[in-house]
Amino acid sequence: MELTLLKMIHVATAAVSYALFVVRGVWMISGSPRLGERWVRIVPHVNDTLLLAAGIWMTILTHQYPGVHAWLTAKVIGLLAYIGLGMVALKHGTTRRVRVAAWIAAQAMFFYIVAVALTRNPLPFGG
Ligand code: HEM
Repeated sequence: MELTLLKMIHVATAAVSYALFVVRGVWMISGSPRLGERWVRIVPHVNDTLLLAAGIWMTILTHQYPGVHAWLTAKVIGLLAYIGLGMVALKHGTTRRVRVAAWIAAQAMFFYIVAVALTRNPLPFGG
């Protein structure tokens, strides 16, 4: 598949990932049963798998790899943190306070990843 198309899929699924994460966080905070709906448990995973697959495919097409190119190493570490914080926020956080803090931190991590992607720099905010 062509790089431009893969990048479109990657950026679109990234936006969907963020939107679904924010919405699920709002449902978590308000104690909404919608969080447990079947599509809510499936669609984000399908979307995030596409996001990751497009990312990996682009690393192959552009010959840039995590562990070789610092910005991609930073993205992968950021992605693991986004996933971990997301799990604490939506599932494993023991108190509401912890879950809300993790939800906010995960969003900060998401924007860090986007900034790294746009600048191709692991320290996108200077340093
Ligand atoms: C939450 C996770 C992620 C987000 C939000 C994200 C976001 C983005 C964005 C916005 C771009 C477009 C940059 C531009 O317009 O130039 C991009 C490009 C890219 N991303 Fe991601 N990304 C994520 C995860 C990943 C992962 C896990 C990988 C690889 C393992 C990856 C590999 C790439 C590559 C190779 C490019 C394009 C490189 C190029 O054009 O030279 N991304 N990403």
